[in-house]
Amino acid sequence: METILVNYEGHVATITINRPKALNALSTQVLTELNQALDEVAANNDVYALVLTGAGEKSFVAGADIAEMKDKSVEEAAAYGKFGNEVFRKIETFRCPVIAAVNGFALGGGCELAMSCDIRVASENAVFGQPEVGLGITPGFGGTQRLARLVGTGIAKEMIYTARNIKAERAYAIGLVNNVVPAEELMAVVMKMANGIAKNAPIAVAYSKKAINNGLQTDIEGEEFSNCFATEDQTYGMTCFLEKTKDKKFSNK
Ligand code: CAA
Repeated sequence: METILVNYEGHVATITINRPKALNALSTQVLTELNQALDEVAANNDVYALVLTGAGEKSFVAGADIAEMKDKSVEEAAAYGKFGNEVFRKIETFRCPVIAAVNGFALGGGCELAMSCDIRVASENAVFGQPEVGLGITPGFGGTQRLARLVGTGIAKEMIYTARNIKAERAYAIGLVNNVVPAEELMAVVMKMANGIAKNAPIAVAYSKKAINNGLQTDIEGEEFSNCFATEDQTYGMTCFLEKTKDKKFSNK
């Protein structure tokens, strides 16, 4: 795998998304290899807790890959959205707890990835947000559902409609993350938590996860994400990002 690293330490596995030049953005290759890595870890019965993080000091995951998405048709966007949602659902229903060690930007698909984990621990430099409507699309990997569930509909709507990012401290205040720690302590804190979980009865922990998840089960996004790819605003919004145009004027078409 070129974009994913997997490491095992005792009963804890760590998956690192390793595409730091693009701030670990989720290209199809990253999603495909992440899916593969999840299957590999799931098949290892010695793993009782999984940690998910991003390579480098700047970013957990800066979202879905905008350059790859820009020219997608409605059908291609539907397939991409479906695949992303399947991978994230695999994390949400993973047979043992998954902890996100959020070491920087967690935007769009990155915020959604963190939210598909059971627990989120953030470094002080972490930044969260759902910038999609500024790109002419909706959140596509579960953000509309999981954000509202975690922080309540009012704050979720504010974050999604304004597309404004929030800092780690605010993410903690609204319940988006469990804990905020200095960047240099992040992995130690997360590993300590993962090892603490791994010391408990794995079957009881897994059943607890299942019981909590079953109680929260709701449908994830429908067709809104892919329908955006039939709009001029989607092409325009993503072109503005790639061309670094700051002053955007959407045409509502
Ligand atoms: N997709 C593709 N490439 C990305 C990317 C993304 N989501 N985020 C960053 N990159 C690339 C940049 O294009 C840049 O590449 P080049 O060096 O080739 O120009 C490189 O990563 C470094 O990024 P910046 O130069 O922009 O770094 P910065 O420090 O100035 O800004 C940032 C960091 C604020 C995170 C900025 O990169 C940014 O706003 N990224 C996009 C965030 C975003 O909008 N995410 C949502 C994507 S849509 C989505 O996720 C849909 C969904 O729900 C499925």
